[in-house]
Amino acid sequence: VSLSVANSGGNDTSPYMYGIMFEDINQSGDGGLYAELIRNRAFQNGTLQSWSAVGDSTLELVTSAPLSEALPRSVKVASGKGKAGLKNAGYWGMDVKKTDKYSGSFYSYGAYDGKFTLSLVSDITNETLATTKIKSKSVEDAWTQHEFELLPTKSAANSNNSFVLEFRPCHQTELQFNLISLFPPTYKDRPNGMRRELMEKLVDLNPSFLRIPGGNNLEGNFAGNYWNWSRTLGPLTDRPGRVGVWTYPNTDGLGLVEYMHWAEDLDVEVVLAVAAGLYLNGEVVPEEELGVFVEDALNQLEFLMGDVSTPWGARRAELGYPKPWNIKYVEVGNEDNLWGGLDSYKSYRLKMFYDAIKAKYPGIFIFSSTEQFVYKDSGQDYHKYTRADYLMSQFDLFDNWADGHPIIIGEYATIQNNTDKLEDADWDAPKNKWSNWIGSVAEAVFILGAERNGDRVWGTTFAPLFQNLNSYQWAPDLISFTADPADTTPSASYPIIQLLAAHRITHTLPVTATTTSNSTASFGPAYWVAGRGAAEGSHIFKAAVYNSTGGADVPVSVKFEGGSDKKGARAQLTVLTAPGGPWAHNTPENKEAVKTTVTTVKAGRGGVFEFSLPDLSVAVLVTEGA
Ligand code: AHR
Repeated sequence: VSLSVANSGGNDTSPYMYGIMFEDINQSGDGGLYAELIRNRAFQNGTLQSWSAVGDSTLELVTSAPLSEALPRSVKVASGKGKAGLKNAGYWGMDVKKTDKYSGSFYSYGAYDGKFTLSLVSDITNETLATTKIKSKSVEDAWTQHEFELLPTKSAANSNNSFVLEFRPCHQTELQFNLISLFPPTYKDRPNGMRRELMEKLVDLNPSFLRIPGGNNLEGNFAGNYWNWSRTLGPLTDRPGRVGVWTYPNTDGLGLVEYMHWAEDLDVEVVLAVAAGLYLNGEVVPEEELGVFVEDALNQLEFLMGDVSTPWGARRAELGYPKPWNIKYVEVGNEDNLWGGLDSYKSYRLKMFYDAIKAKYPGIFIFSSTEQFVYKDSGQDYHKYTRADYLMSQFDLFDNWADGHPIIIGEYATIQNNTDKLEDADWDAPKNKWSNWIGSVAEAVFILGAERNGDRVWGTTFAPLFQNLNSYQWAPDLISFTADPADTTPSASYPIIQLLAAHRITHTLPVTATTTSNSTASFGPAYWVAGRGAAEGSHIFKAAVYNSTGGADVPVSVKFEGGSDKKGARAQLTVLTAPGGPWAHNTPENKEAVKTTVTTVKAGRGGVFEFSLPDLSVAVLVTEGA
């Protein structure tokens, strides 16, 4: 195919084209990005999950002396005369590195004037990897906090390690413990922060926005079970947590303020989703009761953006953050076209949130949570989980969408294999565990279609973001991991998003395509978008070649009108392929399914760049200079 990229026409594109979406699914927050190593640190789901007794002691959950209103349950450790204590297996293990300092704390209740011993131990060899003793401050009838540090004397061979808290009473005794916490060094050393290598994987994606906090987990399964921002603030003793919709307890240690720090650390814009009165069991908050939720969203915005003279701005300052954040984008709910929510969303829910938020914050842009209904100038959110061929067929989906309602593709992924028909996903059938290369290339075709409409499409984000391989509810995901950082595995879709996001087209340009016999060429099996990249001061051409039944290499020639017409002008061509074929995918054992080839292409006569793209490939050509 011979492509001529015009020098004028086209459109400025959204600067937010590539972003990330997060909700706590697949133990992606607790047991994932949130760096806490102790699982069930405050018994928030009413069990002793992940805890076991040490020596001849016994463990029992009690509520006789609540640590706080939010954390009423604690563990009572009844000792014999010998060593007593409790052991935590972490989120399927703990990574222990000699080079790292581990910061811990716990609360105890009951008289004890001996010492506490805190250790990290190998579950395989029983070897002690780190240990420290601290003097007890524990007294009768009151909770006292203890802090400690652990410095391993050696790195563990693997992540099969546990944390142990021991004490040695001289007579039978009962002590209670709660909020037993242990953090490794976190990304940028934030207290209560994030796991370093997972954050680094996000930084490497070069995202522009963070859509939080969901997803279904925003909505909640039933009345009252929604993600309630005000219960995720302040000291951990004040955060009750909740059982999230993905069936496991959310500690809410990763709360609203931590989300804002996360966005700051990635230097991205936040798309803040606010709970909009729809629960996944189909219950909808009636119009006369929705005002409370609207007010709560306004309070949330005041907490984030308000001056310290406002009640919620003052609360933020009191928590240590006097400087307001700036929220420019709010999404009202999540997938409000589902679970029987569309009628109420159309008749009053979106309107009530939109009108109230706009009245107080006219500068905020509001996204509807569905493409099936917009209100005034709201944007819209389009989600698609499907099969490779089907997603590829949606390349032109946005070509004729009405202007004026920017689209966030807030969730997309190829989740099932092709059938012999052009079929959308089958929600009764299982999803793939890993992103296969053919599906990832289909996603690239779809996203290039979005980029071609970069004046309408505001941003795109693959979902879900993370998967803890030891416990997950949804696959495939963009980044898989376990407690062991060596297992962190970007999917086959990751390098595609990374490549496309690294080279931002800031203004699309029309492309005329002809075949070698000079007749008009159409898209397929090659799909493309071209334009200028202001940041790189260059022309950018992006393409994907997708032929699900296999096909020959596609010879491509590209001429940028108005660009250099000199023979010998140079451009960098990056091509992603999977030598293992359409079903190639990354796993922790083999993370190299996708091959990246970077070459310098020199223009031929008239400044024409010629190269060839294999079937199932994704490519970006960036000229040196405009
Ligand atoms: O990404 C998984 C789920 O898919 C999200 O929670 C929901 O928004 C969508 O249906």
